[in-house]
Amino acid sequence: LATTEVDIAPIEIGQRITVVWRGKPVFIVLRSEEEIRRIRDESLDLVRVPEADEDRVQKAEWLVAIGICTHLGCIPLGQKPGDPLGEYGGWFCPCHGSHYDGSGRIRKGPAPRNLDIPPYTFKSDELIAIG
Ligand code: FES
Repeated sequence: LATTEVDIAPIEIGQRITVVWRGKPVFIVLRSEEEIRRIRDESLDLVRVPEADEDRVQKAEWLVAIGICTHLGCIPLGQKPGDPLGEYGGWFCPCHGSHYDGSGRIRKGPAPRNLDIPPYTFKSDELIAIG
């Protein structure tokens, strides 16, 4: 299927889930207000590929990003409880040590780009269509 529909109603604040879209993992995160503030308070000067968090999400609390490291394509850790989140509270790619922040932006390590954002739409407050 070209489009993956995801029921986001059961997701709790702070929870991260992974769905599959066109064979690729997509990370969906319901971010807390505190996390959003922490991400957005940080100067873009500190971000290697300076994309504002506001430009990477449609709704502040929902991050939707393709869960494939932009270095050589491993799946970064951070989706399961107990996973390392890296030095910036997002994801850590164990293959060669890339650290992503809570907006999915590359902050340290060899990955050249921020995590890609797939096309998606909110069909309602409880349903996201990816693709
Ligand atoms: Fe992720 Fe190399 S594939 S750091």
